[in-house]
Amino acid sequence: MIETELEALSFPDAPKMVTAEFPGPKAAAALAQSARTESMARGGGRMPVVMDQARGVTFKDPDGNTFIDLSAGVGVSSVGRCHPKVLAAMREQSESLMHAMEVNSTKRTELATKLSEIMPEGLRGNCITYFTQGGSDALEAAVKFAKRVTGRHQVIAFHGGYHGVWQASGALTTGTAYRKGYGPFMGGVIHAPYPYAYRFPFDTTHKSAEQIAGEYVDYLLNTPYTAADDVAAVIVEPVQGEGGYVPPAPEFLQLLRKACDRSGALLIVDEVQAGAGRTGKMWAVEHSGVKPDMLTFGKGIGGDVPMAGLVMRSDLAAKIPDGSAPNTFAANSVSAAVALTNIAILQDPALNLLERAHALGQEAQERIRGFNSPFVGEVRGRGLMIGIELVEDKVTKEPLKGERLGQLMGYLTSHGVLMIPCGRYTNVMRVMPSLTIPRKLLFKALDVFGEGLAKL
Ligand SMILES: Cc1ncc(COP(=O)(O)O)c(C=O)c1O
Repeated sequence: MIETELEALSFPDAPKMVTAEFPGPKAAAALAQSARTESMARGGGRMPVVMDQARGVTFKDPDGNTFIDLSAGVGVSSVGRCHPKVLAAMREQSESLMHAMEVNSTKRTELATKLSEIMPEGLRGNCITYFTQGGSDALEAAVKFAKRVTGRHQVIAFHGGYHGVWQASGALTTGTAYRKGYGPFMGGVIHAPYPYAYRFPFDTTHKSAEQIAGEYVDYLLNTPYTAADDVAAVIVEPVQGEGGYVPPAPEFLQLLRKACDRSGALLIVDEVQAGAGRTGKMWAVEHSGVKPDMLTFGKGIGGDVPMAGLVMRSDLAAKIPDGSAPNTFAANSVSAAVALTNIAILQDPALNLLERAHALGQEAQERIRGFNSPFVGEVRGRGLMIGIELVEDKVTKEPLKGERLGQLMGYLTSHGVLMIPCGRYTNVMRVMPSLTIPRKLLFKALDVFGEGLAKL
C-alpha cells in the first residue's frame, strides 16, 4: 500500500531514454549555453545532465528522457521533489506571507519550535535556532558563535571533512579542489584524522580507528601543545559526507564528547548532509547517544527550497549579543512552511520513512555486495546514506582510475540513472535517494549500476 502511494509520487516509466544520442539535442544546447553563462566553480556543472521537470525521485531532461535520481540533489530532496503536500504548503504560504524582513513571523517561530522538539537529546526542548540560507553559512555561524560564547579562538575539524567553502567553513573543509590556490583561510583550525577505517593512516591491530582518532582529539585538547584552553569547538560530521560516506562506530563521538567535557570545548555536529532522517534516525548523532552543544542543519530539512541553520543550547545562545549577526534572507516564510511540511512527512507514522530508510538501506547494501564486482572495495553506510568505494584492486586499494569512473558515470547517465561520486579520490559512489524512493525504483536503479560495473 505504502509502495503504491510512493510510486504515485514519481514519473511512472523511469528510467526511460527517448533520444537516439545522449545527451539529446536540447540538453546538449542547454549544457553549452550554461558553460557560456555560469561559473563552473559550482559542483556538477560538467555532468551531462539537465533537469527540466521533476516528480518524486525522478526527473525529465528537456528532451524528455526520464531519470531515477539516487542523489536527491546531494541529499536535499528528503521527501522527493514537488511532493503534493509541499506544493500545497508553498501555494498557501506564498499567498499570505513570504519575506518578513528579520522581524518575527508566525512560520519562522513555528519552525524554530518544531526544531526544538525534534532535536537530539542535549538540545531537545532547551535550544535556540539561528537560521541561515545554506549549510556553509550555518557553519560560518557555528564558528563565529563558538568563539563568542567560549572566548576561545581555535577549532578542531577532521581530514575528509566538508563544511562549506568560505573563509571559516572553507578553513574546516579539506580537499585539494576546495583549498588549492584559495588560501590562507581563517587561521586557528587544527585537522585531526577521521576514523576512516578503510584508509586509516595508523595501525589498527590493537585499537580501532575510532579509538585512535578519538584519543588523538583528547590529546590535542588536553595537552599544552595547542594552548589546550584555547580550543572553542570540535566540529564533526557524525557520518562523513563529501569525504566518502564514512560512518564511524558510536565510540568515536562518545570519545569526542568526553574530550570536550574535559577541556571545555564545545562539540558541534554538522548534520547538513547526514541529518533529516537520512541515516534512519532524524539526526545521525543519535546513533551514538551523544549530546551535542550545537548542531547545524540544511539540505534535507528545506528540501525543495533553501533552509539551513544552527541550533545551540539555550545557555550558549544567551551569551550572543542581540543584533550582532543579522541575515536578510534567512527563514523566509515559504521556506519555513516547506520545512515544517517536510518534517511532518518524515515523521508521518503511516509512512515510517526513517525505519524504512534503515531497512531499505541494509537491503540495498546487500544487493550491491551481491554484484560481486572486482571493483567494489567496500560498501558501507547507515540508512539511505550508502557509499560504494571503487578500487582498481581490492588488495592495494588503489582508487578507481578517472577514465573508468568516467565510463561508469557515462553508462549510468545514458541509462537514466543519476548517481554522484564523493570521497578523497572521487571514487565513492553514493546511494542517497529521497527517503520516499519506492523500493521498485531503488532496485531498478541499483541494477543499472550493477550492469555499469559489469561493463568496466
Ligand atoms: C556536512 C556538510 N556541511 C556543510 C555543507 C555546505 O552546505 P551548502 O552547500 O548548503 O553551503 C555541506 C554541503 O555538501 C555538507 O555536506
